[in-house]
Amino acid sequence: HSTSQSHTTVSLLSVETQSLQKQIDELSTYSDTPAPSVTRVLYTEKDVLARRFIKNLMGLSGLSVREDAVGNIFGRWEGYNPDLSAVATGSHIDAIPYSGKYDGVVGVLGAIEAINVLKRSGFKPKRSLEVILFTSEEPTRFGISCLGSRLMAGIEALANALKTTVDGQNVSFLDAAGSAGYTKHEDALLSVFLKKESYSGFVELHIEQGPILEEEGISIGIVTAIAAPASIKVEFEGNGGHAGAVLMPNRNDAGLAAAELALAVEKHVLESGSVDTVGTVGILELHPGAINSIPSKSHLEIDTRDIDEERRNIVIEKIHRSAIAIASKRGVSLSEFKIINQDPPAISDKSIIEAMEASSKELNLTYKFMISRAYHDSLFMARVSPMGMIFIPCYKGYSHKPEEYASIQDISNGVRVLALTLAKLSLQ
Ligand code: GLV
Ligand code: MN
Ligand code: MN
Ligand code: MN
Repeated sequence: HSTSQSHTTVSLLSVETQSLQKQIDELSTYSDTPAPSVTRVLYTEKDVLARRFIKNLMGLSGLSVREDAVGNIFGRWEGYNPDLSAVATGSHIDAIPYSGKYDGVVGVLGAIEAINVLKRSGFKPKRSLEVILFTSEEPTRFGISCLGSRLMAGIEALANALKTTVDGQNVSFLDAAGSAGYTKHEDALLSVFLKKESYSGFVELHIEQGPILEEEGISIGIVTAIAAPASIKVEFEGNGGHAGAVLMPNRNDAGLAAAELALAVEKHVLESGSVDTVGTVGILELHPGAINSIPSKSHLEIDTRDIDEERRNIVIEKIHRSAIAIASKRGVSLSEFKIINQDPPAISDKSIIEAMEASSKELNLTYKFMISRAYHDSLFMARVSPMGMIFIPCYKGYSHKPEEYASIQDISNGVRVLALTLAKLSLQ
C-alpha cells in the first residue's frame, strides 16, 4: 500500500527546469561585480534585493514567510498535523567576492522548487515543511561563517560577540542589520535561538564543490559527515619606516613575518601526512600598503580544516607556536592571535541518510556516500536537528570562483531527491 503510494508520487515529481534556471540567472544579477562573477555580501543593497526576490518566490509558492532578527528567512507549508515538529530544508544566497551563482543558491531556489514539485504532485505534508534562507553562511563581512545558523543553534557566546562585532569599515553588525531592515537591538539576538525540537529533520541541497561526482558520473552525493573547519586572525606589528633609508639590519618587517607564517601554515598542514588536512591563508594585508614603506602591520586570516578534529587542532597549535617564534625572531610583536572559530565536524543522521538513499533509488538515480569538505549551515543545524545533505555534481568541482557551474539536469535530479526526501520525512 505505502509502496504504491510512493511510486505514484515518484512519477509525478517533475521539476520546471526552465523557470528554475531563469530564477538562478536572475538571482545572479544581484551582484556587486560583473557577470559571470557574483559578489553578494551580507546586508548590502544587493543582498537586500536578493532577499526580496526569494521572499516573493516563497509567497508565490504559497509559503507563509517570516524573518528573524538577523534575517534568517523561513517559508512554511503547514502540514495537516501542525503540532508535530517541522521538516526543514535550505541554504544561503550570500556569495563571497568574485564567486559563482550556484553555491548555496541551488539549495534555496531548489528547495522552493521542491515544494512546488510536491504541491503539483498532489502531496499533502503531515509535518509542516519549511524552506530556510540562512543569513551569511559566508564569513565575508564580519569574519563569522554560518552566522545565521550558528545563532539559530543557540550559541550564546556568538550572541554576545555580535553586540560588538564590526566589519572592515568599522560598521557594527547591529547597524548593518538595522540598515537592511533587521534588528538594531542587541537584546533581539537571543530571539534567533531555535526552540528545542523545532525541527524533526533538516536536509540541505548543495553543489558538491569537488570533482568526485562529475568524474565518476554519479548523480547524487549523500553526505555522511561535514569536515571540521577553523579560522584564525593574526596580526604582527613592527616599526615600519622608509624603504630606502632604513637598512636591512635595522628592520623589523611585519610583512615578512606574515610571509613566513603563511609558509609555516602550509608546512604544518603537510606534516599531518593526510590529504584530508588543508590550510589556506586567504587574506594577507599589509599596512600602510605603499611600495616605499616597510610594512609596519600585517594581517592574516587562516582557514584550516580536516575530517579529523584532533589532527586539525594539532595544526592550529603548531601555527600558534610558529607565530610566537617568528615574532620573536623578527623582533615584531604578535599583537593578535585570535581563533575565530574551531568547530567540530558534524555527522549526518542515520534516518535522514536512509530517506535520501531510498529517494535516490526510487528515482533511479546513481548515488554515493561522501563527506563534505566544505562547511555548510548544516554543520550547525546538526546541533539542533537530525541533519542530512544532498550533493549534486558541478563542473570540474569548481566553486568559489566565477567558473562554478551545475547543469540544470543535475540540479533537477537534486531537487527531485530533495522533494521525495522531504515527503518521506514529513510523513514520519
Ligand atoms: C563554505 O563556503 C566554505 O568555505 O566551506
Ligand atoms: Mn561558499
Ligand atoms: Mn555554500
Ligand atoms: Mn585586524
